[in-house]
Amino acid sequence: MSAAFQNHDLISVAKDPLTFHLHNRYLSYVLGVDEQDILAHHYYGSAVDHYSNLRRYPRLMRHFAPSPETIETRDFSLSTLPQEFPGSGGADYREPAIVVKLANGSQTVNFLYDSYTITAGKPELPGLPATFANEDEAQTLTVKLVETDAELELYLHYTIFRDLPVITRSSAVKNVGQKPVQVERLFSFSLDSPDNELDLLHLNGRYAQERNVTVEPLSTGIKILDSKRGASGHTQNPFCALVDPHATEHSGEVFGFSLIYSGSHKSVIQMDGYNQVRVQMGINDQGFAWWLEPQKVLQSPEAVLVHSGHGLNEMSQAFHQLFLDHLMHSDFSRKERPILLNNWEATYFNFNEDDLKKIIASSHDLGIEMFVLDDGWFGERDAATSSLGDWVVDRKKLPNGLKPLSDYCHQLGMQFGLWFEPEMISVKSKLYQDHPNWVLEVPGQRRSIDRSQFVLNLGRQEVRDYLLERMSYIIEHAGLDYIKWDMNRNMTEVYDERLSPDEQGEVSHRYILGLYDLLDALTQKYPQVLFESCSGGGGRYDAGMLYYMPQTWTSDNTDAIARLKIQYGTSLVYPIVSMGAHVSAVPNEQTGRMTPLRTRGLVASSGNLGYELNPLNLLDNEKQEVKQQVAWYKEHRALIQFGRFYRIQDPFKSTRTAWMFVSPDKKQAVAMYFNVFSEASMPLHMLNFVGLDPAVKYSVNGEYTAYGSELMHIGIYPLTQNDGDFDSAVFELKAVEQGS
Ligand code: DGJ
Repeated sequence: MSAAFQNHDLISVAKDPLTFHLHNRYLSYVLGVDEQDILAHHYYGSAVDHYSNLRRYPRLMRHFAPSPETIETRDFSLSTLPQEFPGSGGADYREPAIVVKLANGSQTVNFLYDSYTITAGKPELPGLPATFANEDEAQTLTVKLVETDAELELYLHYTIFRDLPVITRSSAVKNVGQKPVQVERLFSFSLDSPDNELDLLHLNGRYAQERNVTVEPLSTGIKILDSKRGASGHTQNPFCALVDPHATEHSGEVFGFSLIYSGSHKSVIQMDGYNQVRVQMGINDQGFAWWLEPQKVLQSPEAVLVHSGHGLNEMSQAFHQLFLDHLMHSDFSRKERPILLNNWEATYFNFNEDDLKKIIASSHDLGIEMFVLDDGWFGERDAATSSLGDWVVDRKKLPNGLKPLSDYCHQLGMQFGLWFEPEMISVKSKLYQDHPNWVLEVPGQRRSIDRSQFVLNLGRQEVRDYLLERMSYIIEHAGLDYIKWDMNRNMTEVYDERLSPDEQGEVSHRYILGLYDLLDALTQKYPQVLFESCSGGGGRYDAGMLYYMPQTWTSDNTDAIARLKIQYGTSLVYPIVSMGAHVSAVPNEQTGRMTPLRTRGLVASSGNLGYELNPLNLLDNEKQEVKQQVAWYKEHRALIQFGRFYRIQDPFKSTRTAWMFVSPDKKQAVAMYFNVFSEASMPLHMLNFVGLDPAVKYSVNGEYTAYGSELMHIGIYPLTQNDGDFDSAVFELKAVEQGS
């Protein structure tokens, strides 16, 4: 049985039976060509040095399990075999990874192995955001499968990274026949596992309460986590993980999955009657149908698979590092980000040049580095009811345009940023008068409206050309350093009058391809501009957006206590530097809660710090405190934005939250502790640090010293007196001496 592998660095190949072993020091992933040329899945998990074919699925006779007609025994059936990319309409009754409607109306497609290639590095995915790696950093296996009867080819791409516990996968289908076919589902990957007792972890929520962590046991049946909104959405992030039920932050096996896509997505987690688990992810197939002409290819988005043998923390760190070094395409990916002040909660739509200059001057006094002018500067936008699409300065509010504001910022040594909502159109706008047909709608049918706006069809080249021209003009004439790219409603009545009835199932995905095309053009043209993505806060916080825009407005909820959960959940997948986190005024606009400025400062300093308040309304002592927060953040910014992040105490499980940031050399760390509710006769709780060097002596807040081993295993009492609700503490650790 044992096969002799020939080593191609990160990918080993054995013949008879043909088996591929993708491996690095963290993980192994094994697939092989089984009898009947089926591409079977063998193993995905902790690294093994040698693979001896132990995971070849046993030949077993199962009832009601059809076999290919060409074999005589009944012990081989697709209905139970773990596969790499199950087809549809055949003997596998579980969820297919691909469904294609052929010219004769059949939906039966089952692909067989044809050939493979191994290349150094990682090819780009045309038109789609994807991870990148140079020739030394990764290797890619492409397996070609064929459906000869249906005249289709299927390409499965697997990239293994050398220094990360990461494999990425995507698929592409090509029509090699004479007639068009309709692709009704093309997932990015499918992964089968024959025997795993695992829990499902996912991030879900709603507007202003995004990315709650839910963990639930898997049970027989199908669980779908999806968005049909034309955006990744507030309600279900395109991420999930299968975790050992006993996994903690630092122990237990974890399989994380993230889709690099910003539109409607779907994850299918299925457990069959034999407790075999299948996980799949990709574009949502609800309403999807891609008309594939002869010789044309449909490429799926890429999915990232992370394996951790040591709990959730290792998974998160792998995602963070991958996204920072191999996904964010921006020059800013590893650059420290400016502390900004955004005027949204300070003024809403009500401002003029003088007001803004006063805010800018006051921000400058506080040490803030960038001023961002939010919604309301264009058209006749005095409320959220008009002007989207009219990207021309409102001369009533700003008679001299944007340039004086930008110049003023620059004179003060600050930067200037601006809000746009490019994908939308208000009926009350000049653009709508000129181009009512640029809207996504079904002519003759009732439409749905949200926030008084409709969605522009970004699948249309002329719409993208218009937006590129308008935004380029403003970037250049106003001298922008930053853009906040907002998107405040989801798609409905998805239809494109220019397309044929057979092509209407493409509109949603074509929109996302159009969005990516526009983002690509803008970010390539203006690499000096920092982009932050936003969708009513964190309604499109996904890896696809991070490719173009290296930071995201995490949530419209700026309440520090609510943010503990939001930022904790977000940190499972997305890097700290990508999380816009602002201090806002109290009572909080979203929750009405009063929290101390210190706690608001610490929560916001746990991400990419900014302020979302009117500095002119701050009392003198508050100004002093904000000045200190800003100065403190600058001093610790590199550590917080790019250090290793550790979650210590889970806000979903108790009223306490703790996390910390450790420099890669472990010489510097900052830990933060938050106690949501104060109690009478307060019980004492310990805080155990993590990620330190056990043999190094650290000074703690310059007050005392202790070894890393003590700080991690014994811990400290973070709060010993009752200072009311929403209390917090910060601990700065500095290595003072190397232990023996
Ligand atoms: C929603 C965003 O999340 C807010 O921060 C703000 O920019 C508003 N839109 C403006 O309309």
